[in-house]
Amino acid sequence: MGKKKNIAVTGGAGYIGSHAVIQLIEAGFDVIIIDNLSRSDQRLLEGLRKISGINIPFYKIDCTNYSQLEEIFKDNQIDAVIHFAAYKAVGESVEKPLEYYENNVLSLVTLLKCMQKYKVTKLIFSSSCTVYGEPDVVPVTEKTSMKRANSPYGATKQMCERILEDVQPIGIDAVSLRYFNPIGAHPSGLIGELPLGAPNNLVPYITQTAAGLRDHLTVFGNDYNTVDGTCVRDYIHVTDLAEAHIKALKFIDNEQGLHIFNIGTGVGCSVMELINQFEEVNNLKLNYVFGPRRPGDVEKVYADPSKSFEGLQWKPRYSIKEALQHAWQWEKNIRSVKQ
Ligand code: WQD
Repeated sequence: MGKKKNIAVTGGAGYIGSHAVIQLIEAGFDVIIIDNLSRSDQRLLEGLRKISGINIPFYKIDCTNYSQLEEIFKDNQIDAVIHFAAYKAVGESVEKPLEYYENNVLSLVTLLKCMQKYKVTKLIFSSSCTVYGEPDVVPVTEKTSMKRANSPYGATKQMCERILEDVQPIGIDAVSLRYFNPIGAHPSGLIGELPLGAPNNLVPYITQTAAGLRDHLTVFGNDYNTVDGTCVRDYIHVTDLAEAHIKALKFIDNEQGLHIFNIGTGVGCSVMELINQFEEVNNLKLNYVFGPRRPGDVEKVYADPSKSFEGLQWKPRYSIKEALQHAWQWEKNIRSVKQ
């Protein structure tokens, strides 16, 4: 058994990052977590320790701070980086564009400068289906043109993918994973989505409404040109999404340049269809009302994931129903944990 590869995970205390940390450890990697805890807190780090049985090295720093980030590269042998650290709420980015451009783009540039200096050549980047804007045709493939993103959030991901194109000549090889809509929680119920304050995303808002923390869910628009008037997305279990990062690490080990993959299930699901499945699988009634559309939302986007199935040898295993069960289980667990 050769020496374990050491993977630096920025945003590793966050929702998707923490689930990827578990998959990395189970796949035999060493991990260091780099996170400023601006969008997460210690409870996820405790959950990681409980699941893995390891006191994972954790550096509480901001990825836009070059001197702090460089210190970590100086003090650790890093074989590859998975870069999750970013803000990711479509609606919030419309209200706070400059925070999004500064955090999401500058953190990637700062990270790449450290990688170049310390000759770390392999990067897995957290991108998003929002780079497609409002696609003319669904499902979208990686060749689908990147239209003008509907939100500053989507624009930051488009800019970051352009930056990754331009660092190929300086020897940085990357996989950009275009996530669709991550939902659910680790089956253990020990880690999950932990929005600080009112959730921006649909599923945590649903689970907090079901838990009585929110009076009701507002469905943002039911006058879209879709099956039931509500927006259609591609909801993917966060553990399936995390597993795609392990496959991407193995893929980029033998490849040069930038490679882009859609990480979705290929199944479109409307907001109402998701609500109905949540009620059915968890045997409860959800209190919701219909409200106005949310600025920045696209009407319909879901993946053609065939390039990922073939290129990464990756396939999602969990259903939306299982994801909604795991999300609800996590909500009940976290409410019982003292804040
Ligand atoms: C989904 C649908 C809302 C809240 C997310 C991530 C983004 C990217 C893509 C990873 C929309 C509706 C929501 C509510 C609602 N993923 N909604 N009431 O905007 O598709 O983006 O997936 O990079 O980072 O944020 O997800 O969960 O916010 O919205 O009706 O209270 O649910 O209008 O149609 P979105 P979302």
